[in-house]
Parts: sequence; structure tokens; C-alpha cells
Amino acid sequence: MCQNLPVIGVVPISPRGVCRVCRLLAVYVFAAVGLLAENSPAGRERLLFDAGWKFHYGNAADPAKDFDYGAGNDLQKVGGYGDGTDPTKAATASGMGSVKFDDSDWQAVNLPHDWAVALPFDRNAGKNQGFRPLGRAFPGTSIGWYRRVFPVPAADAGRRITIEFDGVYRDAEVWLNGCRLGRNESGYDGFGFDLTDYLNYGADNVIVVRVDATQPEGWFYEGAGIYRHVWLVKTAPLHVASDGVQVLTELHDKGPADVTVSVDLANDSDAAAPCRLEWAIVDAAGREVARATSSSLTIGPAQRIIASQKIFVAAPQLWSPESPALYRLVTTLRRGDALVDEVTTTFGFRSIRFDPERGFFLNGRHVEIKGVCCHQDHAGLGVALPDALQEFRLGRLLAIGANAYRSAHGAPTPELLDACDRLGILVLDENRSPGSTPESLDRLARLIRRDRNHPSVILWSLANEEKYIQATGVGARIGATMKRLVRSLDPSRPVTFAMNGAHGKGFSTDADVEGFNYNQGRIDAYHRDHPMQPLIGTETASAIATRGIYANDNEAGYVADYGGEKVRWGETAEEWWAFYAARPFLAGGFAWTGFDYRGEPTPFGWPCVSSQFGILDTCGFPKDGAYYYRAWWRDEPAIHLAPHWNWPGREGQQIDVRCFSNCGEVELFLNGRSLGRKPMSRYSHLDWQVVYAPGTLSARGYNGGREVISTGVVTTGAAARVRLTPDRPTLRADGEDAAVVTVAIEDAAGRVVPVADNEVVFTVSANGRILGVGNGNPSSHEPDRANRRHVFNGLAQVIIQTTTQPGPLVLTAESPGLAPASLTLDVAPATPRPSVPLAQ
Ligand code: GAL
Repeated sequence: MCQNLPVIGVVPISPRGVCRVCRLLAVYVFAAVGLLAENSPAGRERLLFDAGWKFHYGNAADPAKDFDYGAGNDLQKVGGYGDGTDPTKAATASGMGSVKFDDSDWQAVNLPHDWAVALPFDRNAGKNQGFRPLGRAFPGTSIGWYRRVFPVPAADAGRRITIEFDGVYRDAEVWLNGCRLGRNESGYDGFGFDLTDYLNYGADNVIVVRVDATQPEGWFYEGAGIYRHVWLVKTAPLHVASDGVQVLTELHDKGPADVTVSVDLANDSDAAAPCRLEWAIVDAAGREVARATSSSLTIGPAQRIIASQKIFVAAPQLWSPESPALYRLVTTLRRGDALVDEVTTTFGFRSIRFDPERGFFLNGRHVEIKGVCCHQDHAGLGVALPDALQEFRLGRLLAIGANAYRSAHGAPTPELLDACDRLGILVLDENRSPGSTPESLDRLARLIRRDRNHPSVILWSLANEEKYIQATGVGARIGATMKRLVRSLDPSRPVTFAMNGAHGKGFSTDADVEGFNYNQGRIDAYHRDHPMQPLIGTETASAIATRGIYANDNEAGYVADYGGEKVRWGETAEEWWAFYAARPFLAGGFAWTGFDYRGEPTPFGWPCVSSQFGILDTCGFPKDGAYYYRAWWRDEPAIHLAPHWNWPGREGQQIDVRCFSNCGEVELFLNGRSLGRKPMSRYSHLDWQVVYAPGTLSARGYNGGREVISTGVVTTGAAARVRLTPDRPTLRADGEDAAVVTVAIEDAAGRVVPVADNEVVFTVSANGRILGVGNGNPSSHEPDRANRRHVFNGLAQVIIQTTTQPGPLVLTAESPGLAPASLTLDVAPATPRPSVPLAQ
């Protein structure tokens, strides 16, 4: 259904709440020379800027080891910039801003890059950061310098060229050709700079980034470095501003929907620009389902306007967890017939509603939020994840029945949200720290503008546990200002604050949806006293467990994996889920956490270097408690037994046995002999005490008296061989794709040996590289960036990345005394994403 409606609103954009890139555009427009779009290549290019960087440590205490930073010159055109035409004269005292600077002793790196994960563990370093040597006491490893020389063609003169950083941890200072562009402190929010005026056209240019990871933002491992993608974006002077398209959908009864599109247009030239916009809405199959054209627009010199349009779509497919239908809005900007800019925005049709009595509704249908909180690091990689890992990690969460993800505690990487859109996962999108200063609001605006078109995002979290202000009038006023900004940029989603107390005060007075972190005992009274305010468990659980360990061991830093341990303020999986599931007014909640993460090794210290809150370990291997969620978060019959059945020397002794299942009854058998049948209470588990004898411990699940599922644990033989299993068999030769390979030690009969701890050494063919290794052991001090790893309780993980060379990628794994394994992955030819060329 096509409709050509007039532009329904053209309003000047207020400078408040505009992202930094856009503000810079607005500022720099006055300096822009009158090179017109007609002289430049048409349209927009978005080039990946990840390859070919150089890295060197600086020093937070000694300027001499920090390229003279802080010693009187800060790469600020010192040494003369000449007349600006000779890039070799962009020299500074250190010379780093010149393309001629000798960085041959710098390390070559590709982004994303996390230098912290390659640092050795140090027991004197902060335990919250996972004992990596970062912070004031470690000046030699807390500063990183990045440098990249890149050519800009002469034909680009007259275009607007911006650099976009998706995330740098943290406090990044950026120079181009020796000129300081600015600074971004946040380690989570994306930022950018307009490079147009600073570039040398038809020549090489050099960008320098000093990253200072001395000061943590959180109380967990956060990495260090340029750990997300960087992009170079080229447009005409007349263009759609960064994150400038907003799509709002309104569903009507019986099928049709209105799409309200707003486009933030910038004219960074000295001449008025007559233009018009066209929109096409395209479904997942590539079919155009609606089209619209604006009336003629004229954007004055240095002007920003927002052009809006309503587009009718007759029968959209709705986005939902079961069927995450996505659409693309293609916005085309034309001047006469010439295409000036084109931006594609992915979105979905869906409605959301939080009801104070009945919880959360998606498309009018009740959905219980079965969520997990996650930090962003993964085994072997730190926070520098290839995009493929996002889908891998979310797949692990879907397997346990989770349908929602909270980006604790900061702006997620864009690729995570893309994957949530594709997989139908609901997102609680979180801002790192609250504030109403220009800097804080600018960060918040960048987050909202960037993420507001994702159908997966259902709720904004504006703060987490701000114990000094969450209860106060100061908090209430700051929260109100933040909420006002969010509403102005996105009227379609409510806001929450993740609070651990003070409910009813401070932030609570601003919360559209009250967010409870723990404190279950206060929820009923709060609901009684605030019957009109919807409630959600922004953070629950904080249960702790070590995969495959069945006795607490304070010295080693291990916690028994039966699902029964928790921290003082926390709840076991069962305690929180049974409570939430019984209260229809609660929209559901987010368990702390989906995955173990580095740092915050509560309740331990050294030698434990990782948290153990995860339902899954740092690799994504399930702990036994994961099967509690698997049983009660998914519908199909499930059954699982803990512990394993390898207990030599424990013959005749009693072993605690736990069964997670959603079956009505479960019967346990040891070596074929029934140990009794027990009824299962809803949202609970079953326990037995079993006198150990080697063999097979098995369980059968019954519904209505009929066996529907069974499981078993078997006493295995000795370790005999290595097995490698990839998460998928085919990869792309685009230089970015990655496979996550499970390394298992098996006995001669092919059963994983649950107590094995053998060391495995990996070799990969020339068309692949090992990105990292892990094993989920929270007290392991083995390096992440390595080609070897001990398995932990039978399992380890190796992450392999492709190059641009297609063909079989062969990974071999050897372990002394065991039969080796070899895995061949099929790497299909693929075109790498358009990227900034390397300098000659
Ligand atoms: C919460 C906090 C989380 C994590 C968790 C551990 O209070 O929001 O970041 O520290 O406790 O239980």
C-alpha cells in the first residue's frame, strides 16, 4: 500500500540532546568551504576502520614513557604544521602526529582490541577488575596509544567525513594529523568527530588515540582499548545526520499500521539546498510494502531540520520472540534527480505495554520476561568480541529459555542489539551512569538516538544502584531531567531505574516502571502502596556456582554447582523465579547473570579472578543450575541430573543428587535399580541421597504417568582422546567471522570425562587465527591469548577467526597421552565489508 503524504512537520532541532557528532557538524559548518556535492562522489559510504592499527603502551606516571604527553605539548601542532598542505610537517615534539613517525616498534593490531585481557594476572591489582594490572598503581599498563595512517582520495574533497567509535574503554583523546579533535570519557557510549576540515585530501593522514584505562567506571572487568568497531563515514554536505532517522510504529486494530518517520537533515554548505526525501519500506523477503515521497524541502545554509512523514502499511508482520519479523526503511535524499544520501534503518512492528496489575504485553499478548543481566566480556577475548560472538552468546541464552537481556551496566555494542532484533530477544537497554550535566545528557542522547529503532529494546534503564542519590530529591530531579530528554527523543518506551532500596523515593518518583534489584521481601508492600506503577525485577538471583564442582572450596575459590548457593543479598534461581512467577503484577525479571564475567569474584579474592554469578560460565558452558531455567523457562519436557558419576574412592558413601525437571514425577535409578519416584512441585527441584556405586545413575520423567524423557550420568573410563566441536560448520572468509569450538576430553567410549584437566595445544592452518582460549575455571591464571589451555572439568573453548582466504580451515588439538583431534571448517568465499584502505 503506497501513500504520498505531505511532510507533516518540519521543525528546527534543538541543540540539547543532539549527539556530539551532530553538534560538531553544526559547529563546523561555519568553517566549511563552498565545495558542492556535485563535485564529489555521490551518496554515503560507511567504511570499517578496524584494520591496520598500531598499538603502544604509554605511561600514566612518566611523560618520558608517554610520548611526552603532559610534558608541555599534547600533540598540539607543536613543531609547526606548515601551510597545512604537507602532512609530513604535522609533526609534534614526539612526532606521532606525522605520517613519517616511525612506529615500526609498535604492535600491529586489528580492532576490536582489548589490551587488558593480554596482561598477566597480578594479585596486587584490583579484584573487581579481575586482578589485571590497571589503575594508579600500574601506570605502565593503564595507558594505550593507537595510531593509524590512512589515505583519503583527492576526490573526497567537498564531502563530509566523520569518524565514529562504537566504544573505547576509556577516556579517549583523539588527534588527526597532529590537531587535537577532542576527548570522550565514557567507556560505553559511542562518539565521533567530523574530520572534514582536518584531512589532507589526496594524501595520507594519521589518526592518534590515547586511551586511559586508569580509572574504572564499574566494579567489574571492563577491558581497555578500542574494543568496538570504528567507522569512517563519508557523505555529501547535504546529508542525513548521524543516527538521524527515527521510526515509530503505531499498530491499529485488525492489522494495519502507521509508520511515523522523522529524518534529521543537515546542510553543511554555504548555499540553500532544495531537496526531497523518498522512503521505501521493504520486508524481510525484499518486497516493497510501502513508499512515500516528501514535498519539496529547502534547507538553508548551515541549517538542520527534521522532516517527518506518516506512511501507512496495510498488513505488517509483527515482531515477536517467536517470529522476529524485521523491515527496512530506505530513506533516500535527492536533489533534483541526483541521489545525495541513502540510509537504511532496520525496524519492526510491535507494541509494548507494562501493566501495573498484569505485567508486560507485547502486541497485546502477555509475555513473562525471563531475562538475564550480562556484562560484555567472553572467555579468551575480554571485551573485544567479533560480531559472530554476539549471536553465539545469545544462542546459549535462548537454549536455557531466556527471552530477555539487560545490558549491564552500560550502552551495549550495536551488533548485540542487531542480533537481539534478529533472534527476537527483548532488551533492557542501560545507561552507564546518571546525571543531568551537559556531558551526562549528551551521552544519554547518543544512546537513545542510536538504539531507538531496535524493536528488541522495550525499556530504558537510566541508572543502576546509585546508592548516594537514588533515594534523594537530588536523584528525583536528575532522573526527571533525564526522563524528559528520553521522552523528547523517544516517546515510545518507558524508563526504569535499577534500584536496590529506597523504593518509593528519589528515582522511583520518575520511574515509569519500578525496577527492583533483589529486595524481594519489599515487593508486595510496594505494590500495595503503589498500585498504579508497573514493577519489574531489574536484577535478581546473584546465585553462585562453579561448573562441575560439587563441594565448596574457599581456598580454590570454588562453589558447589547444585544451584543452592547465593550471596547475602541474593536469591537462588528457585527463590526468585518461584516468587516472580507467582505474581502476575510483576513483569518478570533479569537474573544476575547470564554468563560468568571477569572480575568481581564475590565472595572470594585471589586466586579467584572471575565472578561466578553466571547461569553459564565465561565460555557459555551450562552449570547445573542452568537446567533449572531450562526446565521452567521452556515448555518442552526437560530433565537433568547433578553431579557427574565419577567418584572413585567414594564407594559406599552418600552423594547428594539433584534433579532439575519440569515433569510431574521423576524416578531415579542406580544401575537399573529404582531408588523411588517423587512428585515434582512447580518451579522446584528434587533431591536424593544416593549411596555411590560406579555405573549409571539415571532419571526418568513422567507426565500423567507416562514416561516422556530420561537422562543419565555415567562413570566414565580414563581420558583417551580430544574432541573438537564447532558452533557451526561453515564460516565466511571475510576476515571477521569467528567459530567457537568446544574442546572436550573423552574416554574411549566417547563420553566426556567430567573431572579431566588435561592441557591441550592448538594449531590452526594459515587461513585462520586463534583469537583466544578459555575453560570457565574462575581461578585459572592461564593466558587468554594463547594456543594452549587446560580443560576444566572436561571442557575448554577455543575461538578461531577467519582471514580473507577461503577453503578448509584446519584446527588440530593435541594433548600428551591422548589421541589428538582435527577439525575442518568450511570457509566460504566472502567479500569483506567495505573498509578504509591501508596506506601504501
Ligand atoms: C548488584 C550490582 C551488580 C553486581 C551484583 C552482584 O548489586 O548491581 O553489578 O555487583 O550486585 O551480586
